[in-house]
Amino acid sequence: MAMIMYFVKRFLLLFLHTLLQFLLLRCGTSLDTITVSEPVTDDGKVLVSPGKTFALGFFSPGMSTHRYVGIWYYTAPEHTVVWVANRDNPINNNSGVLSIDAHGKLVLRVKDQSQHIWSTDTNVSKSNNNISTIAQLLDSGNLILTHDDERKMALWQSFDYPTDTSLPNMKLGLDQRTGLNRVLTSWKSKDDPGTGNWSYKMDSNGSPQLFLYQGKVPWWRSGHWNGDGWSGIPTLQNTSLFNISLVDNENEITTSWEVLTPGLLSTLVVNGSGLVQRYVYPERYSKWIMVGEAPFDECDKYGKCGAFGKCNKVSNEVECSCLPGLQKNASGVCVRKRGAASMCGSGVGFVKVPNVKVPDTSAARVKTGLSMEACRQLCLNNCSCTAYASVDAREEKGGCMNWNGDLIDTRVYGDGNGQSLYVRVDAVELDDLYHSRKTEAGFFASKKRLAITVVGMLVTSFLILLVVHLVIKRKRKGSANQTMFNEASSILFKDSPKLDERRGKPDLPFFELSTVVAATDNFSAANRLGQGGFGPVYKGQLANGQEIAVKTLSKSSRQGTEEFKNEVLLIAKLQHRNLVRLFGCSIHKEERMLIYEYMPNKSLDFFIFDEIRRQLLDWRKRFEIIVGIARGVLYLHQDSRLKIIHRDLKASNVLLDAAMNPKISDFGLARMFGDDQIEANTNRPVGTYGYMSPEYAMEGLYSTKSDVFSYGVLALEIISGKRNNHFHVGSPCLNLIGHAWDLWTEGKSLDIVDSSLGDEASYPAHEVLRCIQIGLLCVQEQATDRPSMLEVVFMLGNEVNVPSPNKPAFINRRIIDSGQDASGCAGAPASVNDITISALEAR
Ligand SMILES: *[C@@H]1O[C@H](CO)[C@@H](O)[C@H](O)[C@H]1NC(C)=O
Ligand SMILES: *[C@@H]1O[C@H](CO)[C@@H](O)[C@H](O)[C@H]1NC(C)=O
Ligand SMILES: *[C@@H]1O[C@H](CO)[C@@H](O)[C@H](O)[C@H]1NC(C)=O
Ligand SMILES: *[C@@H]1O[C@H](CO)[C@@H](O)[C@H](O)[C@H]1NC(C)=O
Ligand SMILES: *[C@@H]1O[C@H](CO)[C@@H](O)[C@H](O)[C@H]1NC(C)=O
Ligand SMILES: *[C@@H]1O[C@H](CO)[C@@H](O)[C@H](O)[C@H]1NC(C)=O
Ligand SMILES: *[C@@H]1O[C@H](CO)[C@@H](O)[C@H](O)[C@H]1NC(C)=O
Ligand SMILES: *[C@@H]1O[C@H](CO)[C@@H](O)[C@H](O)[C@H]1NC(C)=O
Ligand SMILES: *[C@@H]1O[C@H](CO)[C@@H](O)[C@H](O)[C@H]1NC(C)=O
Repeated sequence: MAMIMYFVKRFLLLFLHTLLQFLLLRCGTSLDTITVSEPVTDDGKVLVSPGKTFALGFFSPGMSTHRYVGIWYYTAPEHTVVWVANRDNPINNNSGVLSIDAHGKLVLRVKDQSQHIWSTDTNVSKSNNNISTIAQLLDSGNLILTHDDERKMALWQSFDYPTDTSLPNMKLGLDQRTGLNRVLTSWKSKDDPGTGNWSYKMDSNGSPQLFLYQGKVPWWRSGHWNGDGWSGIPTLQNTSLFNISLVDNENEITTSWEVLTPGLLSTLVVNGSGLVQRYVYPERYSKWIMVGEAPFDECDKYGKCGAFGKCNKVSNEVECSCLPGLQKNASGVCVRKRGAASMCGSGVGFVKVPNVKVPDTSAARVKTGLSMEACRQLCLNNCSCTAYASVDAREEKGGCMNWNGDLIDTRVYGDGNGQSLYVRVDAVELDDLYHSRKTEAGFFASKKRLAITVVGMLVTSFLILLVVHLVIKRKRKGSANQTMFNEASSILFKDSPKLDERRGKPDLPFFELSTVVAATDNFSAANRLGQGGFGPVYKGQLANGQEIAVKTLSKSSRQGTEEFKNEVLLIAKLQHRNLVRLFGCSIHKEERMLIYEYMPNKSLDFFIFDEIRRQLLDWRKRFEIIVGIARGVLYLHQDSRLKIIHRDLKASNVLLDAAMNPKISDFGLARMFGDDQIEANTNRPVGTYGYMSPEYAMEGLYSTKSDVFSYGVLALEIISGKRNNHFHVGSPCLNLIGHAWDLWTEGKSLDIVDSSLGDEASYPAHEVLRCIQIGLLCVQEQATDRPSMLEVVFMLGNEVNVPSPNKPAFINRRIIDSGQDASGCAGAPASVNDITISALEAR
């Protein structure tokens, strides 16, 4: 029974089909060509391609009553228009005629009118004048205009002037010989095939890419061609369905695709909502099914995270972060952490950012056949190169892309799509990352070491668990996870303070408040070391036994938390045997603290200005201290990665370690407090009276030469054991500098030497004299006369002729304030000698 029904049905279908064919043949034609004598008119007549795949004729889209000439899939019941001739010039009645005109062009006009509504803008070659042209609809969906000869060379083809749809084997992109660019452009709406706002086109700059534009604004890009496909369209290139290819040579830069399943209808459409969509028409469903769409998510939006940003979609949240070496400024723009200048020196390198859609390659330079190492070298050797990557995702085929300038539109693919981008970073960043990722990098460097990796990871996990466990057991107080992590890390990196400058790394410079509270016994009075320029200083001990000094900073700094953190990160990287090591900071709401290495022997002033303790410092030790300070300052000025002017160099800022080696502290504070603005507003410099150079004290001008001045004062204080401003021998208004100058002019310099050093026989007089002379050189009135720290270090270390100093500044204590000190001298009161006139107090 069922069998009979089936055959009846089949028969009926067959019958209907035959009837339809018959009707079609009768009332029009299923011819596939337009000739001079056979035009297409708007009366139901259509051209049908030989294999009955496509049809050409007049139609009205959607609700529209306008008439257009178009090509559509003949077999798909839905009216699937893939090409429109007169998209922007509809005809409003049924009198349209598509014909070959006297010049051999294909033209659309209204019956009985000569004016063209649309035409192929080709000139038919005159040599073939006598052979007429015909237009033929092919089974590919291409309408071609050709001479009616055997060769059927296309004089014009609809594939070169696409509407919104790309068909299999149709090229998109540039014909470099004619300049023709085949672009897909959306319809205005479902009812209006007019030229819409969205276009999908080939950008041949750099490494070719396809761009979806809204008007002239890039909206989404396909990514570069990685050899297998467009790198940024995982959703559009289902390789089990399509074969997508790129031709990139001197003739053309074009892409095309074909369907791997024979007979499967398929289109690629730019729809009016700004989406590039791929459809297939499987016969058993008898409807169009969308199999891919782009842009896929918000991270696909071109330049979503700005230049040097990278977009990541994590559980529906769009996350914009900066590429390595950059950070967001207050306006959320990724900026270089240390400015562009730092990118072009020794020590710069690359950080690998895995699993990304590499940034816009329009500005990239492509070199074929280069190995990854050669690619890296190429980028390294050009200061303007900001990143490199392999052309193919697996970095196997050779082929290199170098970016210059901004890196735009990088996105992260979580699922292993994408490839690695190698971003150029400066030395500081590299150092930092190298150390924080050392373990990781070491473990994951090579596939060969996979086994080691697994074992290593297990061991590491175990160790970390063990440490965390111990920490929890030892310290129930530190409840926050971060605290445990910090402490666990401190234990793991216990040795780091001893590392030298090259290898040292400020591991985890941010401490939880609870860690600091625990370390300082809740800032107990017993732990209080003294009062610093910005607030009290406390001694503390971390859980791992490391002794620290915690410098609290008053709340009024205007610097933002992020800036402050960055500054701490930078300062923490400065490491020198004559600088106090900054471990990090702690920020809790408005409270800020700097965590330093603890110096058991307090500061230099504690010794040199104390009757008893100064005797512990013989000339040898003092000379070492003078040289050590000079080296520390030189490092700040010149040898460190940042040029730092201390601006508050004084005896109380020179700390002594257990072996009485000098270590300069508080460097970078002026920087950290961003006081330039305050200074400009108040004309009140940061610094300490008695150590300030005249240009700094009076005009707020500071340079390395103002530090040199302070250094000179300090050197004379170390030699004499007297404070510059407390000093008055004969005249109550003469300071130490003035006294030293007087003695120098009288040739009695050695009279200034601390009596606790004994008489001339007990110290090398020539060395002391040289030091006094260098000290006087440093305190000369004119900044330009003063030597640089490099020259100071050189003169201290070598038996060279030291130039004669000119008159120093501030011989009489006429400084800044109009107030009078106790001794009746106009100038800085002696009582404020050691008080830092900080930016904070100035506010
Ligand atoms: C069809 O419309 C055109 C203008 O688009 C007009 O010139 C022509 O006369 C119209 N023909 C008929 C038959 O209405
Ligand atoms: C076609 O020929 C005419 C006249 O010879 C010329 O003005 C026009 O620019 C040509 N068009 C093209 C597309 O070559
Ligand atoms: C074209 O055909 C005409 C007659 O139809 C003839 O006179 C002329 O010579 C032919 N021209 C060429 C180039 O063959
Ligand atoms: C095209 O974009 C412009 C502004 O970008 C908008 O005003 C216009 O409506 C858009 N047109 C279409 C057809 O969407
Ligand atoms: C490709 O398409 C086939 C058939 O629609 C589907 O089964 C397969 O999951 C798709 N693959 C990808 C990677 O999208
Ligand atoms: C894909 O296309 C390229 C070039 O058109 C061709 O060489 C290749 O064989 C095709 N691959 C498949 C799987 O059809
Ligand atoms: C574009 O495609 C989307 C998804 O298929 C659809 O919702 C939207 O209506 C389309 N827009 C237009 C203008 O056709
Ligand atoms: C952030 O950086 C951008 C680009 O350099 C700059 O235009 C902007 O003014 C900066 N914003 C702030 C708050 O510094
Ligand atoms: C570095 O790259 C830029 C941009 O491509 C180029 O103009 C410049 O010549 C290159 N410099 C060197 C030294 O190769």
